[in-house]
Amino acid sequence: MEEQTIPLEVNALTRHYDAPTSLFSGGMFWKKHQQESQVVKALNGVSFTLRKGETLAVVGESGCGKSTLARQLTLLEIPTSGDVIINGKSTTNLSSQSLKALRSKVQMVFQNPYASLNPRAKIAKQLEEPLIINTTLSSFERKEKVKEMMNKVGLRPEFAERYPHMFSGGQRQRIAIARAMMLEPQIVIADEPTSALDVSIQAQVLNLFMDLQDLLDTSYVFISHNLSVVEHIASNVMVMYLGRAVEISTKETLYQTPLHPYTKALLSATPMIYPEDRRIKIPIVGELPSPLNLPDGCAFHKRCPFATEQCKVQTPELRTIGTSQVACHHAEEIN
Ligand SMILES: Nc1ncnc2c1ncn2[C@@H]1O[C@H](COP(=O)(O)OP(=O)(O)OP(=O)(O)O)[C@@H](O)[C@H]1O
Ligand SMILES: [Mg+2]
Repeated sequence: MEEQTIPLEVNALTRHYDAPTSLFSGGMFWKKHQQESQVVKALNGVSFTLRKGETLAVVGESGCGKSTLARQLTLLEIPTSGDVIINGKSTTNLSSQSLKALRSKVQMVFQNPYASLNPRAKIAKQLEEPLIINTTLSSFERKEKVKEMMNKVGLRPEFAERYPHMFSGGQRQRIAIARAMMLEPQIVIADEPTSALDVSIQAQVLNLFMDLQDLLDTSYVFISHNLSVVEHIASNVMVMYLGRAVEISTKETLYQTPLHPYTKALLSATPMIYPEDRRIKIPIVGELPSPLNLPDGCAFHKRCPFATEQCKVQTPELRTIGTSQVACHHAEEIN
């Protein structure tokens, strides 16, 4: 029974934001009532499934909607449409009490650990806090759990009485990870958790994520703009472009036989991943179009070397080819 429950399913998830235009066009203050609002289409119908103990890596350029997706998954925002399903249960129209209960099952790790750590509280206190709020454990039991977790993430016991500023960036990220893990969440959403760290430290933090996953069977959504960062940690990879998934595949298939021209281009720009398998180099040309003004048809067509008339007018849906899902009209012809 337990084995069959899927921790996280996402169904046609969409998040649009209103962006008042007159703020940018220099409109005068008294004209405020005339403001027209434009819509930022940050997330446009993303669907995927995350199984127990798996890591879904989400990759794509800056501005493609990765953090917007993360905010919907942690139930911090209400999506414009679509559904986040946790343990088979829809989170749409839940009472705030039910939402609060679910939130402890989904924890977040950010790029900057300062975002989740209190600079004025000692480490042990910060790790204990989620247990005080969410459990009925005794003070002794909580302190034991804190010690155990510090040990699991490789923090020495004497660090317990120190403040966040007394640590290096890598250690601080270990503390933030420990804090996210305190309630043994089923799902952890990590948004660029290694991007601010030295390359040598990045590998250690990635290994820590993997060790904790083996230990606790947690499912991860691991966000990165860089395909080489997620190469080791991912089970599956979802490539996003302007708020949509353009390719979802197992890690092995995606790195060895990418199907979408955008995935190919991202891999061309990533050093040292199966270089012998990539005969064609596809450059990413031009700028990412604005989510305020999405192109018609395939959002990638203006940058795609294979684009045809069809791509300019018809938006490709994700479809299954082999073991991959890909949103490209010409995936068969170009591969
Ligand atoms: N609250 C908001 N109001 C208006 N626009 C927003 C809001 N949040 C995000 N956006 C816009 O939505 C788009 C997607 O942003 P998002 O932060 O999700 O991208 P990202 O993929 O995480 O980028 P990065 O790699 O730089 O972190 C961007 O154009 C951003 O400006
Ligand atoms: Mg982001």
